[in-house]
Amino acid sequence: RGTLSTVTALALLALSTHASPLPQPREQVLRCTLDTAEQVSHIENQNLDVWSHHGVSAGEKARPIDVRVNDAQKAALLATGVRCEPFIEDVAALLKEEMIPVSQQTLQKRAAPSDPYFSTYRSFAEINAQIAKWASAYPTTFKDLGSVGQSAQGRALRAFKITSAKTGPKKAIWLNGGIHAREWVSSATTMYIAHSLLTAPAGSPAAALLDSLEFYFTPMSNPDGYEYSRTTNRMWRKNRGKNAGSSCIGTDLNRNWDEHWNVVGASQDPCSDTYSGTKAFSAPETLALSKFALSLPNRVAGIDLHSYGQYVLRPWGWTYDAPPNNDFYTRLGDGMRDAIRSVYGTRYTSQSGADLYPAAGATDDWMNAKARMVGFTIELRDTGSYGFALPARLIVPTGEEAFAGVVYYARFVLDNK
Ligand code: ARG
Ligand code: ZN
Repeated sequence: RGTLSTVTALALLALSTHASPLPQPREQVLRCTLDTAEQVSHIENQNLDVWSHHGVSAGEKARPIDVRVNDAQKAALLATGVRCEPFIEDVAALLKEEMIPVSQQTLQKRAAPSDPYFSTYRSFAEINAQIAKWASAYPTTFKDLGSVGQSAQGRALRAFKITSAKTGPKKAIWLNGGIHAREWVSSATTMYIAHSLLTAPAGSPAAALLDSLEFYFTPMSNPDGYEYSRTTNRMWRKNRGKNAGSSCIGTDLNRNWDEHWNVVGASQDPCSDTYSGTKAFSAPETLALSKFALSLPNRVAGIDLHSYGQYVLRPWGWTYDAPPNNDFYTRLGDGMRDAIRSVYGTRYTSQSGADLYPAAGATDDWMNAKARMVGFTIELRDTGSYGFALPARLIVPTGEEAFAGVVYYARFVLDNK
C-alpha cells in the first residue's frame, strides 16, 4: 500500500505556515487491535470515527480497525489497554495534499479528452455550473432535469439525464453520488462518468449504450453535508438536518431508506455518525431521491457511489442471506471488478454489502427490494492510505476505471435483465 511521503507532507506544511492562522488540534488515524468487549464499547460510547469498513470486534479473530482520534481521544483510547500503531500520522497534512490541483499537462496525458473541471474537488456551485455548461455544450445528449427536491438547508438536489438522440423504448440506469459528505471522490466520479459518456467516441461500446439506455445522474445527494465538509469539518458524513431534542446535527442518509430501516448497523443516537433518523425517509434528501427513482418507469438498475475501500458490493447489505438471483448479481459484480482492474490494475473486491458489515436502511437494498432495480454500492479508491482525503490527482484515474466498471455493468444489465 502506498503511504504518504513524509517529506512531501513536511514540505507542504513548511510552505503553508505563514498562511495557517490557528494551530488545529492534531488528529491521527490509529490501526488498533481490540482484545476486550470493554474496548469495543469504549469506541462505540465515545462515538469515535472508525474509518475501516468492517465491524468493530474484539478477540483473537478480530480484524484491526482504523480509527481517527485527536490527542485527548487517543490518550483515553490507549488507557483501555488497546494495542494501536499510528496509521496516518497527521490527518491535516493529508488534507493539504488532497487539494493540490492537477496541472493541465498531467490531465492531458490521462483524460482523453481532458477537462480542467476534473483537476480538483469542486464546490456545490461549481458542480451546478458544470451541469449548466454541459446542457449548452451537448444539447442533444444532455438534459438538465433541474432539481428533484431540496436538502434540509434548502439546497437544490440536481439531476440530469444522458442518452442518444435515438428514440424508442429505453431502459433507465440511475447513478447516485455524494450521499456521504466526506466521500468527495464519489461526486467527482459521478461527474466523471457523465463526462465520459458525453465524450464517448462515436461507435465505442460506451456510445452504443446510449442508444438503448438513459443514464440518470444525481451527483450531489447531500449538498449541505458536502459544503460543510469543505468549509468546516472535513470528516462530516451525515446531512445537516436538525434533530429535535438534541444539539447533534444530521442523519446518515445511507441509513434512512425504507428497507428494513434501522434493524442493524444503524444508531438511534442523533450524535452518532450512523444515526438513521426518526423514521425511514425522515430526511428530505432520501425522500426526494426515492421519489425521483420511482418516477422513472423504465428503471432497471442503479449504483450508489461511495468511498473508500475499493469494493463492488452486491445485495444484500442488511442480511448475510443470499438474494434471489444471487448468481446474476455475483457474475455482474465480479465482471465489474475485472473491468475496473483492466484499466490500471486497481484491485477492487467483489462481495455482498453485508460481508463488509451488515447495515440496513441503505440506498442499495432499497433499490433492489423496493424499486426493483439492480442495485449496487461501489466503494471507490483507495484502501486507506489516504482514505477519504484522496488527492485530487487521483480523481481522473479513479473515474476512468469506475467508468469501465459502469460500462460493463450497463451492458450486462441490458443483455441479461
Ligand atoms: N460504506 C457504506 C455505508 O456504510 C456501505 C453500504 C453498503 N450497503 C449496505 N446496505 N450495507 O453506508
Ligand atoms: Zn459512504
